[in-house]
Amino acid sequence: MSRASSAEGARAERPAPHEPLAAGESVLLFDPKGREYLRELRPGRRFSLQCGVIDADDLIGRPDGSVVRSSLGHAFLVFRPTYARLIPNLPRQAQVVYPKDAASIIVWGDIYPGARVIESGVGPGALTMALLRAIGPDGHLTSIERRPDHVQMARDNVARFHGAAPNWELVLGEAAEVLPTLRADRVILDLPEPGPLLGAAAQALRPGGVVVCYVPTTIQLAAIDEALRAEPRFVLPQTFETLQRFWHVAPNSVRPDHRMVAHTGFIVTAWRLADQAPPADPGLNGEPGPTDGAS
Ligand SMILES: C[S@@+](CC[C@H](N)C(=O)[O-])C[C@H]1O[C@@H](n2cnc3c(N)ncnc32)[C@H](O)[C@@H]1O
Repeated sequence: MSRASSAEGARAERPAPHEPLAAGESVLLFDPKGREYLRELRPGRRFSLQCGVIDADDLIGRPDGSVVRSSLGHAFLVFRPTYARLIPNLPRQAQVVYPKDAASIIVWGDIYPGARVIESGVGPGALTMALLRAIGPDGHLTSIERRPDHVQMARDNVARFHGAAPNWELVLGEAAEVLPTLRADRVILDLPEPGPLLGAAAQALRPGGVVVCYVPTTIQLAAIDEALRAEPRFVLPQTFETLQRFWHVAPNSVRPDHRMVAHTGFIVTAWRLADQAPPADPGLNGEPGPTDGAS
């Protein structure tokens, strides 16, 4: 196991969001057909794109949201990437949590400013960045990843696209070994076999804490369900997926897009009981019922 604060390597000086585009930051370029290009503004660099060439030096110093012309005279839009636009373009060698699922994990996992959060694995660090934004400077995130190359990939992506993160600790190791050594308000498991890790997650979580598992297949879902039923410290599990359909909206045509990402993953959440609590009624290990509407 190896631990490192992950502020190291991050570009310390990032322009404030309202400041002009600066050397060293990454921008998204959109060509007239809506194609996207994520590029780093290194002085002297030339970007050969499908509709011509654009010089990085022509972009540095312009306001975010500028229109620039390529060598072929085509108009390009240039923006600092929003989170949702960044993630599909993120350099990666592993699957990321899609923005729609990151949004659900933040809300259903109840990730709040100041929270102590643990996630495993890390992959390219897409969810890492969403978690760092949600916990804010007063929170703390520990990310556990078993593969050194993924640790490096995540460190690079967070440094490049999020910036300095002094409240982020990136641990190279096995989730099963590292989780029990930590304490947290929230635990997020995005790895192939979260079921066997639920005991370690329960050990790390405070009473009232929340565990979130993200898995792509129903077989994994069934395995989590079995593991949750066998772990008396977790109750009130909820399982869902989200489907997001973009629409084509133009003056003469308003309809759903022809293509959509039909399936990404299932999100499972459960609550951590207090240690002194008597064992929950077995019924509470299943789906919660409707609320009574009273407050
Ligand atoms: C799907 S990727 C995570 C993607 C990431 N959440 C994101 O949004 O970019 C799964 C990662 O879990 C790591 N992993 C799998 N099993 C693990 C374990 N037992 N302990 C630590 N890391 C693990 C893999 O190496 C891989 O990097």
